[in-house]
Amino acid sequence: MKKISIIYWSNGGNVEVLANSIAEGAENAGADINVKYVYDATIEDVTEADAVAFGSPSMDNNRIEQHEMEPFINQFKLLPNNQKKIVLFGSYGWDDGKFMVDWVQRMKDYNFNVIGHIAVKESPSDEELLKAKNLGEELTK
Ligand SMILES: Cc1cc2nc3c(=O)[nH]c(=O)nc-3n(C[C@H](O)[C@H](O)[C@H](O)COP(=O)(O)O)c2cc1C
Repeated sequence: MKKISIIYWSNGGNVEVLANSIAEGAENAGADINVKYVYDATIEDVTEADAVAFGSPSMDNNRIEQHEMEPFINQFKLLPNNQKKIVLFGSYGWDDGKFMVDWVQRMKDYNFNVIGHIAVKESPSDEELLKAKNLGEELTK
């Protein structure tokens, strides 16, 4: 059984509903899922998983959330990461997903295999939730 960790930051709930859809897709595909708010997550939640999804809103001038998500993500800069499969997900108010473009490139630079990403404006539509669910399934392949 594939172990999938889904680690996110959310205040208003928009990123959280995406996390739940990704989890649903991965669970339906038979994965062992581990969903954590970033504050409760450890490096092992990533290193011991077969694949991971990271989620954040665009905050603080079109960047991932800076107080909890940023330091968590930054830890992987010096780890091998070995092309581990990841999905990135998030929500923005006005940056049109620019923060996500930057985040995808950053994680590629950290030697992750970014197999998909989704950035939605504020709360996700039904179509976007379905896309998130499909990304969860992709993580199990
Ligand atoms: C304090 C604060 C700062 C924000 N900064 C940005 C920003 O720099 N760029 C942007 O596009 N949206 C920004 N937003 C909008 C959020 O990204 C958006 O509302 C998102 O859906 C929040 O996700 P959440 O409901 O999971 O917390 C900001 C929102 C808040 C509350």
